[in-house]
Amino acid sequence: MDIVTVKDKRFRLSIPAQELQQAIRRVAENITEDYAGQQPLFLAVLNGSFMFAADLLRRVELPCEIAFVKLSSYAGTDTTGAVRELIGLNTDIEGRPVIVVEDIVDTGLTMQHLLGLLQARNPKSVDVCTLLFKPEKLKVDLDIRYAALRIPNDFIVGYGLDYDGFGRNLPQIYTIIDETADNQ
Ligand code: IMP
Repeated sequence: MDIVTVKDKRFRLSIPAQELQQAIRRVAENITEDYAGQQPLFLAVLNGSFMFAADLLRRVELPCEIAFVKLSSYAGTDTTGAVRELIGLNTDIEGRPVIVVEDIVDTGLTMQHLLGLLQARNPKSVDVCTLLFKPEKLKVDLDIRYAALRIPNDFIVGYGLDYDGFGRNLPQIYTIIDETADNQ
């Protein structure tokens, strides 16, 4: 199915499952190599990263732990600059190598905020691993060590990413066709 409707908008297939899995395999191999001899703690940021985290982690060949955290207040097709809290981190990260697993880095504001919260807990190191990265939209200075795929500016859904809460269950990534499909 190359065109899908999510709520009131139409999307076309842009990253098929096979391309996603290839990119994830590459990143998993890089992490396995770079972290040899260490026991990283993966922090998967909910909700968007749940599918990516599941596929990534089953390919990482290291002794490791995974925890799921959440930062809130994002709605619709734009990012708010609101202050967000970190929920769900019950593991002590002091002195540990941490890898943050995100679905997408867009403006980078969410990741910058999250990294600040994590650094305050004195981890040994923090690396960012994102499935998708929109380099043209980045607004802040961020070091993204692992980005599985670089994509253009367009709004996307699927494979964990949502439009207004819907579309996360799509197994592939779809790009918005027209922002005004609901008016046509
Ligand atoms: P940032 O703070 O602008 O980098 O946005 C990060 C968050 O915005 C991601 O974790 C996503 O939840 C959401 N987001 C950004 N771009 C998209 C998109 O194209 N589709 C769906 N969600 C997005």
